[in-house]
Amino acid sequence: MAGVRRHSLRSVVKDPQLAPGGGRKLDLAGTWAPVLNRVRERLLAEGSVRDRRIGIILPVEPKTAYLAVMLAQSGAQVALAAPGALTQDDVAAGVAERGVQVFARSDSTPEEELEFYSEVLDRRPEVVIDDRAALIRMAHTTHPQALQDLIGASEETTTGVVTLRAMARAGALRIPCIAANDARCKHLFDNRYGTGQSTITAVLDSTNLLLAGKVLLVIGYSWVGKGIAARARGMGAKVTVSEVDPIAALEALHDGFRVAPVTEACQTAEIVMTATGVPNALPLEAIERLPDGALLANAGAVDDEFDMLRLRERAPGARLVRRNVEEFRLAEGRSVFVIGDGKVVNLSAGEGHPVEIMDLTFSVQALSARHLLLRGSEMDSGVHLPPPEIDEWVARQKLESLGVSIDHLTPEQESFFSDWEAHA
Ligand SMILES: NC(=O)c1ccc[n+]([C@@H]2O[C@H](COP(=O)([O-])OP(=O)(O)OC[C@H]3O[C@@H](n4cnc5c(N)ncnc54)[C@H](O)[C@@H]3O)[C@@H](O)[C@H]2O)c1
Repeated sequence: MAGVRRHSLRSVVKDPQLAPGGGRKLDLAGTWAPVLNRVRERLLAEGSVRDRRIGIILPVEPKTAYLAVMLAQSGAQVALAAPGALTQDDVAAGVAERGVQVFARSDSTPEEELEFYSEVLDRRPEVVIDDRAALIRMAHTTHPQALQDLIGASEETTTGVVTLRAMARAGALRIPCIAANDARCKHLFDNRYGTGQSTITAVLDSTNLLLAGKVLLVIGYSWVGKGIAARARGMGAKVTVSEVDPIAALEALHDGFRVAPVTEACQTAEIVMTATGVPNALPLEAIERLPDGALLANAGAVDDEFDMLRLRERAPGARLVRRNVEEFRLAEGRSVFVIGDGKVVNLSAGEGHPVEIMDLTFSVQALSARHLLLRGSEMDSGVHLPPPEIDEWVARQKLESLGVSIDHLTPEQESFFSDWEAHA
């Protein structure tokens, strides 16, 4: 890696001198993460992660990186890597200064990114907190030696869980993996409210256009699609939903949205947002039907949810018209504008989820890592739901930190769930 600057703890970051600025951002993120701070207190008190090795791939921006810092503060040996597009260099330097081994630079090449991921696996993590199953796939293919120490993994994304389930079905998954995404404290809030808000924020910030009155097409109506559709409607957009699942389509209809196939909906859509986790959910044929000036943004974790490859062939000479906004001129004199290069838009053209949301997600992740360290050797290889007690603990801590009290079942009500003979 020519030109790479190394500093203490063998981190690879662009400029260690950026650490003070990055550190301030981390500190600020920490003030909005009350649950994660309580997780740290718990881990420190019980010593459950002390000197345990944890490898992480996640964006290196303040709130995400705070998870790595908090685990290091809890006594774990943490190695963190991220793709260049999702790395803030000052934050990377700040994290490295706080005792995490960091392998992340904003200008890294795809080859260097793979080297960074290898560096994490070379540290022989006992648990990995993964993004799109990148480390897990490497450990099962190019880096099999990593499996010797790997007790288990916790996966962040819906798409990564799809990969893990496919590996498990094929008999290829050799470690227990917790689908952190399937925790209620993750997808109900992160996928829905986090992505809903931050996707719309990224598109509006990038374009400085008005949402009110526009026709917006959401492709995919699960948690992410629902979050986008609800927020877009709240801001005055006229929302259409496209789905392949009849139940999700019916739900969208009952939520009050127009439902139509993608090619039909594209005839009038002024903004299209994909939220499927499936390649080519918006094919070129549909893009070609869009009105002049339509905006395209992808909220899903799969980079080619719309057909960027064929769009680039169809409209060569695309030009950057604003930061993160590329214009593609179609032959008929019409243009479409792609936000954030078709990559996950709230990160490629925005700052990701609000920190209060990630407080929940990362508390689930940290406690899933703890669970794997303590119990992983008793778990079967395969994909596991997060233990329900993690969800409940995280939700209770969050409510408590917000000063919100809730009711409890009475003993009589509790017994109603077990004592069927007493039912009338
Ligand atoms: N941007 C972010 O920060 C963020 C956060 C959370 C999740 N995600 C990603 O967003 C994507 C969606 O997440 P989710 O939790 O809602 O996923 P999900 O898997 O629960 O739902 C996907 C939905 O898309 C529908 N779908 C699939 N193919 C389609 C097609 N060709 N046309 C129309 N609809 C189709 C499915 O029927 C399903 O309802 C995933 O890739 C996930 O990893 C991104």
